[in-house]
Amino acid sequence: MPEHRFGEVRWLASVDSTNRYLLDEARAGAAEGLVVVADHQQAGRGRLGRSWEAPPGVNLLVSVLLRPTVPLGSRHLLSAVVALAAADACRVVAGIDPGVKWPNDLLAPDGRKLAGVLAEADAAGGSEGPAPVVVGIGINVGWPGTDDDLPAELVGRATSLSQWTADPVDRTLLLDRLLDALDPRVTALDSAAGRAAQADELRRRCVTIGSEVRVELAAESFCGVATGVTEEGHLSVHTSGGSRTVVAGDVVHLRPVAPGYPLSVDSGPAGASD
Ligand code: BTN
Repeated sequence: MPEHRFGEVRWLASVDSTNRYLLDEARAGAAEGLVVVADHQQAGRGRLGRSWEAPPGVNLLVSVLLRPTVPLGSRHLLSAVVALAAADACRVVAGIDPGVKWPNDLLAPDGRKLAGVLAEADAAGGSEGPAPVVVGIGINVGWPGTDDDLPAELVGRATSLSQWTADPVDRTLLLDRLLDALDPRVTALDSAAGRAAQADELRRRCVTIGSEVRVELAAESFCGVATGVTEEGHLSVHTSGGSRTVVAGDVVHLRPVAPGYPLSVDSGPAGASD
């Protein structure tokens, strides 16, 4: 048995969505640390109302239940630490070092997407103590095997660990390493110093910083240069109208900025506006 909060892992053959399953368990009073994995999701959820699809038995589809004490403004760090822990696991198990595309995608070295993270909160809570947050991640382990497996719109945009490794990647081992790496990261979020350390690591791993980006928000989109990540894990973007901080939204990488552009990877909340 692992010596951390993620001791109970329910591995289901099939479920609509592991996030939905855990949100229901949370409402029924489940404790922090419950983990659910599915071989197949019939209605996997992606960010911004999208779906998340994968054939049965090949990818890692997992959600964890947290009951965080993190200040509301720093909630983004909850999904960030899951992305960072998944990157740790990919390094150890598959020998590849993914970058983090803000907000939480893991990208292979060629920029194609390897994994996505979706955090969902339930303000109602369902029990005493901190309100639950469910963080789910889908890691492309064995699928797509080649571009031929992908729908046209994902060709050139999605990849899997199997495309980067000589040997097949064991999903159980990947999950174990992910949970081992996640536990101390979640603990770190309880203190300001720990949150600062996780934000620092996010900055180091964030391949969005230094890229010209298009930011897509619900009501508008704008372009600029991603210059840093704040202490809360939000994205700082330099635009023609000044600096803006993006709390939630979609980011499209347009191109890297030219050498010499004044990037501040240590950028914190100071100087960020909007
Ligand atoms: C994204 O859009 O990039 C986020 C995808 C998140 C998918 C995972 S798979 C496990 C968990 N359960 C879900 O329904 N979604 C997340």
